[in-house]
Amino acid sequence: MDKDGKIGIGLLGLGVVGAEVARMLIQKSERLSQKAGRPLFLCSVLVKDMAKPRDSVVPPRLLTTNPADILNNPQVDVVVELLGGVKPATDYLRTAIAQGKHAVTANKEVMANHGPELIRLAEEHGVNLLYEASVGGGIPIIGPLQKDLLANEITSVHAIINGTTNYILTKMSQEGMDFQVALRRAQELGYAEADPAKDIEGVDAAFKLAIVAALAFHTKVAVSDVYTEGISKLTARDFLYAQELGYTIKLLAIARRIGDGLSLRVHPAMVPNEHLLSKVDGVLNAVEIEGDLVGRVVFHGQGAGPRPTASAVIGDILEVARSIASRRGPARSGTVDGGLRILPMEEMITQYYARLTVSDRAGVLAQIAKVLGDLDISIASVIQKNADAARQTAEIVVMTHPAKEAHIRQAVHQMETFGVVRDVSNVIRVEQWT
Ligand code: HSE
Repeated sequence: MDKDGKIGIGLLGLGVVGAEVARMLIQKSERLSQKAGRPLFLCSVLVKDMAKPRDSVVPPRLLTTNPADILNNPQVDVVVELLGGVKPATDYLRTAIAQGKHAVTANKEVMANHGPELIRLAEEHGVNLLYEASVGGGIPIIGPLQKDLLANEITSVHAIINGTTNYILTKMSQEGMDFQVALRRAQELGYAEADPAKDIEGVDAAFKLAIVAALAFHTKVAVSDVYTEGISKLTARDFLYAQELGYTIKLLAIARRIGDGLSLRVHPAMVPNEHLLSKVDGVLNAVEIEGDLVGRVVFHGQGAGPRPTASAVIGDILEVARSIASRRGPARSGTVDGGLRILPMEEMITQYYARLTVSDRAGVLAQIAKVLGDLDISIASVIQKNADAARQTAEIVVMTHPAKEAHIRQAVHQMETFGVVRDVSNVIRVEQWT
């Protein structure tokens, strides 16, 4: 535990976030120590390669390539994991916690996949495991769910929690930018994951939703419980129609309580232009949480980047330090009480937008209407555009009233197999707030 009253910090990883956290701990040591109530000191930093040239304020004597120098170091009270990826980060966190060290992590993949096990381990060992930076960078989300909003029964979470895709969608929508160009720009800005498919296909947002939903609904959530669909099928035409219909397309991460069930999904969604989330642009993130007492609250800000992420990590370090200084045990609990049944995606009910390329001849609309009608899908509006005289095709955009996902899938399958519908070009769910 603490030595001469000092609180030792061991850092795993010296990437962009690690370097910013280290810089703050060194350059703002006095101010942060005042806030912590005890002197803080950086004991050791794990790096992959000692020889790598780095522009860091960390004295080279603090660097090590041996994790045991941190995990087994009695000087270290708090292990701060900023490596990313599941392995070896999860093992390091397990070891640190099992040795009675407090842990802080920014690792969404670890917390989404191994969070419940690590939280239990931390509770068994009476140490803190804090992970504010794992969702929404600098935006406080985990803390409010564990403390300020705890009195509420949460009814829904609607979030834009992937900056890369929000940047791409904003550029496509507002500037007509090509998908690939926007993706490249997002990568240059340093927002995209090492493997950008995790952003584009919604996987990164699904990790974050799994973490948030488990806390919000006190329910065990696996990443595989989250229905996940990315943004790569969206085209310029969808953005044009969305605008015409009064919507903005966003990659939403949604958790909604329905009776004793929980619907969990990440997919592109039409958001009404008058809703706040439609105005969250560029790389910014926003999380709207609805509780029975508080109503709707929205947390908005920078969801990634070294400085916002360091803000969350250092906030967690300070909370741990204060709990050590005051000799309080960990105040937060991540306990899950069994909770809700995860609802299959097929049971979900919402409105749908479908863009179809059809043969431009008599009776086609009637056939489409029959397929939908037979499946209990009621049409809210139909737009017909762009008759292509040469190919004798037209483009039809159908908006439905609320319908069951299973029925929509059946309708798409049927329409794809009958001759007059040349192509179901895209289907996008429409999110409505009641
Ligand atoms: N790739 C992530 C994003 C980084 O675009 O939001 C932050 O987790």
